[in-house]
Amino acid sequence: MKKDIIPYSKPSIDNSDIKSVVSVLKSGMLTQGKNVPKFEKLVSKFVNAKYAIAVNSATSALHLSCLSLNLKKNDIVWTSNNTFVSTANSALLCGAKVDLLEIDLNTNNICLEKLKKKLASTKKNKLPKILILVHIAGMPCDLKEVYKLSRIYKFNIIEDASHALGSKYFKDPIGNCKFSKITIFSFHPVKNITTGEGGMAVTNSKILFNKIKALRTHGILYNNNSIKKKIGKLPGFYQQKYLGLNYRMSDISAILGISQLKKLRLFIKKRNKIAKYYSKNLKNLPLIIPKFHKEYLSAFHLYIIKVNCKNAKKIRDEIFYKFLKNNFKINIHYIPVHSHPYFQKLGFCNKIFKISELYYNTAISIPIFPNLSLLNQKKIIKIIKSSFVTKN
Ligand SMILES: Cc1ncc(COP(=O)(O)O)c(C=O)c1O
Repeated sequence: MKKDIIPYSKPSIDNSDIKSVVSVLKSGMLTQGKNVPKFEKLVSKFVNAKYAIAVNSATSALHLSCLSLNLKKNDIVWTSNNTFVSTANSALLCGAKVDLLEIDLNTNNICLEKLKKKLASTKKNKLPKILILVHIAGMPCDLKEVYKLSRIYKFNIIEDASHALGSKYFKDPIGNCKFSKITIFSFHPVKNITTGEGGMAVTNSKILFNKIKALRTHGILYNNNSIKKKIGKLPGFYQQKYLGLNYRMSDISAILGISQLKKLRLFIKKRNKIAKYYSKNLKNLPLIIPKFHKEYLSAFHLYIIKVNCKNAKKIRDEIFYKFLKNNFKINIHYIPVHSHPYFQKLGFCNKIFKISELYYNTAISIPIFPNLSLLNQKKIIKIIKSSFVTKN
């Protein structure tokens, strides 16, 4: 009999999700219906932000966020070297330049001390217009500290919260945009909730909201009463104001998002329970394991372990292959951005990101998702422990 493959993450889809999607399919209104605005309203309420714009991926949300902040040629964006390439690509797609920030091995997020030093030693005309913060694995970055720097050095903050829907920074949900201009989320199937493919940008700025909303649909303004009145056109009249794209989310996706959002708190609880179980059982091994922050809640989108001893890479590779042999399809988050051929061509080959390299050579994301069975959690722990048993 063929054995089941256990991935590092998996969507939790139940009958209520299936029923809701079927109801939209039966309605005939597959896109531009009532479910997208409804989903937007629910997410903005959940994260406590004024406005939300649903799109077809987090990549689209990042691209539109950069465009809405007028990012252009010769502007500079800084972001973490430990992220999915689309974070950095969103800036490149606007014609801007990207610089990458070294990470902190305690949090796997950007290193605040290094950020401070880099800002202080950068000429004024080379400072970033935007800093995209990435809350890796759902662990929030220190938003207040970065916000203080943004006031001094005059840059905008976008939060890439692809992993962090359901996370909390102190008592506030990630996405409330107290310390940033825009926060974006991903609803890819491996993420905390899914819409198949999908993403969302949230903001407290009406100007940015209107701009992102227009850019999502070709840069067109619909239902703009001032236009209708001024030109005396009929309802349905539209005008293209910006050069935009079609990044819309369908109603099929939105209804799935609405159904999934109802279970988000439960999903985060289950992820945290698994994380606690892992931490309890892995704490005495030569590993760096995720910390539970006293003041923040991580959504635990990922549980990243790092081997921390002599021959760390060799042992990490052994663990990796053991997982594959036992039908666990694990992963590493992420291959450092600077090391991809495209970024090497941009000139990153000469930069040395020692910490990112160390991270990449020692890290593994072990499976974590709401329906991961206790039996599989035990198997996962056993595989890791067996790699540290001294061989005679
Ligand atoms: C940190 C981060 N940013 C952006 C993205 C892009 O998300 P999407 O697949 O929804 O475009 C991902 C997805 O893996 C991600 O993990």
